Amino acid sequence: MSLLETRSDALRLHEVRKDFGARHALEALSLAIAPGEVYALLGPNGAGKTTALNLILGFLTPESGHIDVAGTRVDRDPLAARAKIAYLPETVMLHPSLSAVENLSYFALLGGRRLDEVQARALLTEAGLQDEAHARRAAGFSKGMRQKVGLAIALAKNAQLLLLDEPTSGLDASAANDLSQGVRAAARRGIAVLMATHDLYRVKDVAHRLGILRAGRLLVERHTDELSATEIEALYLEQLAA
Ligand SMILES: Nc1ncnc2c1ncn2[C@@H]1O[C@H](COP(=O)(O)OP(=O)(O)O)[C@@H](O)[C@H]1O
Ligand SMILES: [Mg+2]
Repeated sequence: MSLLETRSDALRLHEVRKDFGARHALEALSLAIAPGEVYALLGPNGAGKTTALNLILGFLTPESGHIDVAGTRVDRDPLAARAKIAYLPETVMLHPSLSAVENLSYFALLGGRRLDEVQARALLTEAGLQDEAHARRAAGFSKGMRQKVGLAIALAKNAQLLLLDEPTSGLDASAANDLSQGVRAAARRGIAVLMATHDLYRVKDVAHRLGILRAGRLLVERHTDELSATEIEALYLEQLAA
């Protein structure tokens, strides 16, 4: 792999190993995601998905191997690497008494960016939040609406990599579909997306590529345009049974 190619990836994991005591949570995990690419990391509970995200964020240190986020090594400059990452947690915490626009403006400001109302509304719309909710207090927001605000906060950060951990768990079908649209919107901006998910059903629509992780090993990677939704499910079940 040439230096030039290495630099153009938004994310690259090089043989990353992580142990928790005697347990090998990740075994020499290597993967790369290009700008604008959506990668779905599939795997059962305990496969190592969250561990991989925590290593990328620099919250955990690998036993060996290393990680580059848009050309910045996480171990050498964790703050600079993290500045390039937006992370959408499973539960997006918002100020209940502030509106969607105010929450977004507040969190963007914490990240060093001042947004006017027009910019904030444009980001909320891009993240899929309906106009009538922009000025409403977040106290009454559903999980799906909170995630859209979270996605807008991520977009405001101008990150190069977006990480999502099980984003559609606990969402109804319509909200999960909206989230997929928001993720694709982020990708169209050139953001690379790594999404840990159980949601096989939506993988074909949201992801360009998938990887199946089991017991810390990446068993297979495929482009989703080569597979039907049914074939993705069959591949997953086959890999889990293997
Ligand atoms: N902080 C921790 N301490 C000890 N073991 C952990 C810790 N975090 C994760 N593990 C173990 O590492 C493995 C991978 O976990 P995790 O990354 O959470 O999987 P997933 O997100 O795919 O469900 C599991 O066996 C889990 O029990
Ligand atoms: Mg997990």
